[in-house]
Amino acid sequence: MECIDPVSPAHLGSLKLRNRMIRSGCYEGYCRTGKVTEELIEHHRRTAEGGVAMTTLAYGCVVPEGRTFADQIVIGPESVTGLKKLADVVHGEGAAISIQLTHGGYFADPKVIGCRPLGASKVFNNFRFTSPDPMNSAEITSVIDAFGNAAHLVREVGFDAVEIHAGHGYLLSQFLSPYTNRRDDDWGGSPEKRLRFPVAVIESVRKAVGEDFPILVKMNVTDGISGGLEIEEAVGVAVAFEEAGATALIPSCGFTSKTPFMMLRGNVPVKEMARNRPTFFERIATRLFGRFMVQTYPYEPLFLHEPAGRILNAVSIPVVYVGGVVSGSGIRQLMDEGFSFVQIGRATIRDPDFPKKLASGEIEESDCDICNRCVAAMDGGGVVCVTAVEDSVN
Ligand SMILES: Cc1cc2nc3c(=O)[nH]c(=O)nc-3n(C[C@H](O)[C@H](O)[C@H](O)COP(=O)(O)O)c2cc1C
Repeated sequence: MECIDPVSPAHLGSLKLRNRMIRSGCYEGYCRTGKVTEELIEHHRRTAEGGVAMTTLAYGCVVPEGRTFADQIVIGPESVTGLKKLADVVHGEGAAISIQLTHGGYFADPKVIGCRPLGASKVFNNFRFTSPDPMNSAEITSVIDAFGNAAHLVREVGFDAVEIHAGHGYLLSQFLSPYTNRRDDDWGGSPEKRLRFPVAVIESVRKAVGEDFPILVKMNVTDGISGGLEIEEAVGVAVAFEEAGATALIPSCGFTSKTPFMMLRGNVPVKEMARNRPTFFERIATRLFGRFMVQTYPYEPLFLHEPAGRILNAVSIPVVYVGGVVSGSGIRQLMDEGFSFVQIGRATIRDPDFPKKLASGEIEESDCDICNRCVAAMDGGGVVCVTAVEDSVN
């Protein structure tokens, strides 16, 4: 197999990227009341300056009713000006920009959206202590259209790619997962029918953005829950997503309401998560019971390497590897195996210059210690490497 150089330019569909390192979607927590703020722009400008080929604006919501946080961007007329400015600033640093297209489904916060969340089926959500209203056909069609409209809008304002979120337990994942999809109509009941909604979303986005625009799809190789989606079925999901028009796939894992640290691994920062909860009750409850509520998973570099490889073997479109990319040797290994790009989360939060330093040979490995306090920070003012902040104070 051809050996790919991770720091040389490469094409993602029709989009030329300056190297093969992409910042993964990491919810920023910088969009006060859903607006693009100067802090958000600076966060992505700095990430782009650090050398990634493309940065990803996390967790843009396609309709207001899909929000899981009040501070989440809704892709619509009110966000156009800010999104355009953000895209222009990132382009000024020589990088491309993508945005995650999401709908939280039954993770949506009733206090934020002002109504009961929608979902595939009436399954209790221990994350919000709610259960959703199962979506009817009109609601399903309306959300499919909303994904297309959002994708069209971000292409118009200058984004270079979109990333449809079909993993981590969000709405598309809720339809795919046998744990949350208990329907017995056209949208559930068999693996083929559970696929229908996410496939229709990809087709809608493809129709809206045209043939040449890159559509990445983040998907689960496992939900990590009993009765959830597993790798055997995920391989078929990947093939169906390719047929539906995806340009590239990003295999990930975990179900936010039940196994939130599966996609991350490593330390669960209970103390910091408790501190950033909005109410006194939640702060106490998280402090006392957090350890028991959130399952831990041991961390190792390239922790999704094996199941992501099974997706790679099943499709002919590019596969973007995410999960524990922390070294030059790790990236070269992935390229040798046939992955086309890598997405990097924590190593670029720890040090935005990580890609540049790898490319120049200044470093070979990130010094991120997977404390995961950046995850708690996104609820406490905005995502940041807490260790770096502490070091700058001392
Ligand atoms: C602070 C933080 C926020 C995250 N937010 C998101 C998100 O909004 N959407 C998403 O798909 N993944 C999110 N993730 C998961 C990352 O995109 C990535 O899949 C995971 O961190 C593994 O990659 P890494 O080992 O390079 O960090 C987040 C991760 C972190 C650390």
